Amino acid sequence: MSTTSPPVRRAAPPSTRVRRFTGAQRLLHLVLAVTFFGMLWTGLCLWSPALAEVMNRPLAKQWHFYFAIALGVAFVLILILRPRDIRAIAREVDSLDRDDRTWLRGGPRRLFNHRDAPQQGWLNAGQKLNTAVTIGLLIVLTLTGLLLWLGERNNSFRFSGTVDVHDIATILIVLLTCGHLYLALVNRTTRASLSGMVDGTVDREWARAHHGRWVAEIEAETPDQSS
Ligand code: HEM
Repeated sequence: MSTTSPPVRRAAPPSTRVRRFTGAQRLLHLVLAVTFFGMLWTGLCLWSPALAEVMNRPLAKQWHFYFAIALGVAFVLILILRPRDIRAIAREVDSLDRDDRTWLRGGPRRLFNHRDAPQQGWLNAGQKLNTAVTIGLLIVLTLTGLLLWLGERNNSFRFSGTVDVHDIATILIVLLTCGHLYLALVNRTTRASLSGMVDGTVDREWARAHHGRWVAEIEAETPDQSS
């Protein structure tokens, strides 16, 4: 009589990917990117007489307004439907700790060279600053845009300098976004982050090198996932 030994249960091999962003966080980023470029394009058509021939001013103004409304509505909807995902970002940005300050003292070279960098959490200190400044500039753009819109309907909302503040905030957010796009699409050591915004996951070893504290935290929560 042959005896068959019970099948050996092997643990699943650890995944080489880690989940970085939820669907709601990626959707919010996508809406931000689409509406940002929509507002930039229509804003340029309002600003430049040459581009006004491509898209006339009334139409550009209408779409500029629609993109701003779309961003605001999408943000409120995602906040209502997935408050935890938005709170996670807010908590992260609000937590500039000692390691972050050391990271920042290393200056912009940290973005390209991770040697000797203090271990970073889910977002590194540069990303926390980028998020905070982007949100700040979006608020300035919304408030000045609202004043410009109201000022066309009621003289008491017209203030000298509103357009200048709107323009300066635009220039700053465009410069910031150029740097952001360079790091997300071109720079060799950081462009592996792109998949995090596409399918939500990034390579575990890349994440360990760039966001070591975050990977340690998630591996401590689900020990069978660590390699
Ligand atoms: C097609 C254009 C864009 C691409 C390919 C892109 C790519 C990315 C990627 C890959 C990340 C995740 C980085 C990580 O793993 O931590 C990210 C995060 C982020 N993106 Fe974008 N992005 C784009 C447009 C924009 C625009 C227009 C804005 C704002 C004006 C923006 C603001 C942010 C912010 C605030 C974050 C979180 C913090 C950070 O990573 O710096 N993105 N983006």
